[in-house]
Order: sequence, then C-alpha cells, then structure tokens
Amino acid sequence: MDLGTGHRSERSTAPGAVGSGAAGERRFPPGFLLGAATSAYQIEGGVDLDGRGPSIWDTFAAAGHARGHTGEVAADHRRRMAEDVALMARLGLPAYRFSIAWPRVQPTGAGPANQAGLDFYRALVDELLAHGIEPLVTLYHWDLPQALEDAGGWPVRATAERFADYAAIVGAALGDRVRRWSTVNEPWCAAMLGYAAGVHAPGRTDPAAAVAAAHHLLLGHGLAVDALRAALPHGADAEIAITLNPYPVVALGDSDADRDAARRVDGLANRLWSEPVLHGAYPEDVLDDLSAVSDLAHIRDGDLAQIARPIDALGVNYYRRHHVRHESGASAPPSPWPGSPDVAVVEPPGAPTSNGWAVEPDGLTEVLVRLSREGAPPLYVHENGAAFADVVDEDGRVHDEARRRYIADHLAACLDALDAGVDLRGYMVWSLLDNFEWAEGYTQRFGIVHVDFATQRRTPKDSALWYAEVVRTGTLAAEPARPAGDGRRP
Ligand code: FCB
Repeated sequence: MDLGTGHRSERSTAPGAVGSGAAGERRFPPGFLLGAATSAYQIEGGVDLDGRGPSIWDTFAAAGHARGHTGEVAADHRRRMAEDVALMARLGLPAYRFSIAWPRVQPTGAGPANQAGLDFYRALVDELLAHGIEPLVTLYHWDLPQALEDAGGWPVRATAERFADYAAIVGAALGDRVRRWSTVNEPWCAAMLGYAAGVHAPGRTDPAAAVAAAHHLLLGHGLAVDALRAALPHGADAEIAITLNPYPVVALGDSDADRDAARRVDGLANRLWSEPVLHGAYPEDVLDDLSAVSDLAHIRDGDLAQIARPIDALGVNYYRRHHVRHESGASAPPSPWPGSPDVAVVEPPGAPTSNGWAVEPDGLTEVLVRLSREGAPPLYVHENGAAFADVVDEDGRVHDEARRRYIADHLAACLDALDAGVDLRGYMVWSLLDNFEWAEGYTQRFGIVHVDFATQRRTPKDSALWYAEVVRTGTLAAEPARPAGDGRRP
C-alpha cells in the first residue's frame, strides 16, 4: 500500500454480503468495524504530565515486578499522540480502541476532574474524528489510582462507587463525540492476577480479597453503566459494553477429577463474569468453590441487579484456550484460582509465539458462538493478537509473517462466527503499537507497528501493511492450509 495516501474509498463499511468472493475471498458485512487497540499505561508514558497521579502500575513496576521495566516512557504516546493518529490514518484504520488513565483524570481517584488530563483525551478524540477514525473508549484498563489502592483497592466497595463518579466525569467530557464505551477491561485479570496471584499490580496474594475485588469490579461496571448513561448527552444512542476475556476450557483427561478441574476453571474464568453481567446471577457451583476462601459477605442485596444493568454490546478479548487437568496443589495460593487449589492450566508445548501462548483460532469462534447462545448483546472482538520476537530487517521492514497469519486466521474465525449467526460487529487487533506488556515489560512485542524504544521510531510491520489492505478492501483472502504441529489444535 501507499502509506502516503491512505485510501479510504473501499472500507470495510462498503456494502456487501458475508460470503465467499473471487478465489476464496471472504467479505466482511457492511458496517463491520475493523481497527486496533491499546491501553493507557502500556503506551502513554508522560506519567508526570497533566498533573497525573500515580497508579498501582507505577508502584508495582517501580518495585521491579515488570522485569525491571516501567511505563514511565512506554511508547511516549502522551507526547506523540498526533503522530500516532496520523499513522493510523495512513493505515486507513476505521476504528481505534484506547483506554483512559483514571489517575490522569482524577489524580487520587476521587474529587473534581483534572481538566488538563481531560484535555488530553479530548484532543485525542478530536484528532481521531478529524481523521475519520471511530474512537472506542475503555474506562478502566488496570491503572487504578494508587490512592484508591491505599484506601483498600478493589476489595473495598467504595472503589466501585468512586469508579462510577469517574465514569460520569469522562462521560460528560467526551460523550458529545464518543459513542462506543467499555467500562472495565478483563476484570478476571484485574481481580485474580492483581489480588490473588500477585503477578499484576497491586501484587497482593490474598484469595478472599481477590473474590471481593471480582465482585466490586462487576459492581463498578454496573454502577458505571448507569453513570455513563446519565452523563452522555446522547445516552440512548450510546453503545456501552464491558470487555471480558472468555476462554474455551479443555479438560486434558477424561477422569472425573480432570473434568471437575475444567468446570472450576470455566467457572472462575468465564461464568463468574458473564452470568452476573448477562443474567444477574452468580453461578451456584462457583459460589460454592469460592466459599472455601471467602464468606461472600461483600455481596449485598441489589448488587446483582445493578451488575446486570442492560448493556448494548459485549467486548471479547481472545488469545487462546485454557488446557486444564487436575493436579493436587498445583494452584495452591498464590494462584489466580482462589478456592480451587488443585487445577493445573497448562500451555501446550511448541507454541510459536514469544510468550508461549498457543495459537488456536477456532477457539475464538467457539467463545463468540457460546456467548451469543447465552444471550449476549452484539459482540465485538476488543483484543486479539500475538507476540513474536520482531526485528527491523536490513531492508527497513519488519517481516512478521507469523503475526500476519495469526490475524488472518482469527479474522477467518470471526467470519465463521458470523456465518454461524453470531451478531459480531467488529474486530480490534491487539495492538497498534509495541508496548509495555505488564509483568513482561518490553520483552513481548504485540504491535502491528514496531516501536524502537530507544528512538521511539515507529515502523509499520508487514502485518500492518497487510491489515491495511484487508481494511481497504473489506475482504479476507483464503490462506493456504497450515502444516501440522505448529501449535494449533488439530
Ligand atoms: C490482555 C490485556 C492487554 C494485553 C494483552 C496481551 O490480557 O488486556 O492489555 O496485555 O493481554
């Protein structure tokens, strides 16, 4: 493609039916939204600008828990925002999902809005709209203001209430120009990795606290739905979502113990989130499992109804399956499976990615079909992508064929879900830019755009140039069959 012109005439919104075209090409339906995603702490840097307060990730990273790396500079997006939006425009991306740093908007997580912080996000949204790029705004992608953690964090109810106040502030500031919202990104990670396993900020290893955090993240979501809806000038027209990370769960053996391990992981990873949000009830078997570590006294009358406030869309982040077997003590604390100390979640060997995650595109179709059958509202893939050890070659390009193929196969999985009748409305690749990959620091590159962290030079990888063509034509070409044994399930 010509990166200088940014063709936009035949975008994915071009009319056309789902189905095969010439030479096995498949077309996305009209209006299907294609784009890329990032999150604030992973790309912004500029931690001292705008009067931003510290977040739990500043603290956690400063303590050395992210391979000694921090988000202090990251991809320097706070300073390079206009350049990054121009790059998206050159790639012809129709949509961009980003998150707002709560401590940039409320430095201590409470009290009046910090206008300088809001101004940055307003400028970002204006820049996107000026380039015809649709913003998808996520309110919480894990960067809790440190002051709120000091007051108890997500295990305390007040944090959910503060989150609703923050949602109202952002809704009032951006609601005249942002239509698509997500409240919370991957609450499983925030609760279980942050408060039970301790491998994400704030690094606590208290199973009971994690169970309470899970509830308050869900409650915060439900309160934020109402707060946003009330604050948005075009409330009725808005699309409010939550972003979950469902996993197909595969039992690695046939024994009752293996099947029970799979039930437990499915309960904690999937049903604990989808059932309250979609149906206003916690699954009984999961509550039973959790009662081993928590008295569940944090769940009050009326909470479930609040958590189940109607939403307009559901975001799905998908990377891979969970392969599970029973193993005595394998998930004893600290682990992300509170109340279930005997489950082992195993990465299948031979994965081609740099972080060891398997490549299982058909699992994406599976989760989309399942959620749709369970009564989900319209779905979006809010994140999907893969990390590889990319290098800028002598020709100045990044030949990331494995990522290109990963994205192609997952887009095909989206089309399979559409063919199966799923109301899927869009797909955001993770990630626009190489970035701070949480506990892995800068060691994992997920971007379709390479970032040289020493110079901050951006280089669109081959996958980005290819994706730009998919976006431009609204079609996906057939891929040759894969050789066996490359990490995909047969
Ligand atoms: C997801 C996170 C996202 C990124 C990807 C690789 O769990 O939401 O920020 O780290 O994983």
